[in-house]
Amino acid sequence: MQDLFDLTGRVAAVTGASSGIGQAIARALAGAGASVVCVARREGALAETVRMIAEAGGEAAPVVGDLADHHDAERIAATMADPFGGPDILVNAAGINLRQPPDAITPESWDRTLALNLSTPFFLARTLVPAMRDRGWGRVINIASLQSSRAFPNSMPYGASKGAVAQLTRAMAEAWSKDGITCNAIAPGFFPTELTAAVFDDAEAAERNARQTAIGRNGRLEDLHGVAIFLAAPASDYVTGQIIHVDGGFTAK
Ligand SMILES: NC(=O)c1ccc[n+]([C@@H]2O[C@H](COP(=O)([O-])OP(=O)(O)OC[C@H]3O[C@@H](n4cnc5c(N)ncnc54)[C@H](OP(=O)(O)O)[C@@H]3O)[C@@H](O)[C@H]2O)c1
Repeated sequence: MQDLFDLTGRVAAVTGASSGIGQAIARALAGAGASVVCVARREGALAETVRMIAEAGGEAAPVVGDLADHHDAERIAATMADPFGGPDILVNAAGINLRQPPDAITPESWDRTLALNLSTPFFLARTLVPAMRDRGWGRVINIASLQSSRAFPNSMPYGASKGAVAQLTRAMAEAWSKDGITCNAIAPGFFPTELTAAVFDDAEAAERNARQTAIGRNGRLEDLHGVAIFLAAPASDYVTGQIIHVDGGFTAK
């Protein structure tokens, strides 16, 4: 039974591992035994993630890269194999929400959001899938959102990207699951990160979001550890094409 959650010998690539949810997932997967490639732009912050993982007895390495241009995603995907060999697990956690009101959205800000949140996850996965297929086992884990199914103010491109991430996840599962590659998404509720600083800085808004959950509080990053390990591990071999809400029951009410 223990093997169900064991990632020893697996290589995981986690984008957005320099902070927040990506960092939490990188630490969780390393704790379960995976060698973790941590991908983002900020070299110093990535080094800190690698240090945290090493301190806990895990193995990790940084890959510095800008994922905002999906035309470049194939090149960065190739570099993800440098530290430990081809990734068996891809976690697409890099993302932005520019929080612009509709009238302030520009073609550039629209394209940037859609490229990083939606297009890059597809092109990274498509580049890494052939090697996963050759090994007969792989995992793609995307990060969806409450905004995959709900509208929030000043978030049109973000909401559009996250709605699409949910459908991309199902389409990936349709295409790749028969080769042993399961594709799922985690849809977090409200978690305190750099991305949600504006929400958590507003005590009233944070409290309102907490009240909307069934559990009665907002997320803590460690609430994501279990689901990340589950979706990466043999325990979820027959789970694919699913959007798993980790939101304290926010969407149940
Ligand atoms: N926090 C929440 O409540 C919440 C809820 C639902 C969904 N999510 C999703 O969770 C994911 C992670 O968000 P977070 O809340 O953890 O936010 P965060 O702390 O701001 O993390 C975002 C990550 O994305 C990376 N990133 C941003 N632009 C990048 C680029 N151009 N190239 C490469 N990496 C880039 C950042 O690293 P660098 O700056 O070092 O590049 C950082 O590691 C996002 O997809 C977000 O939509 C978050």
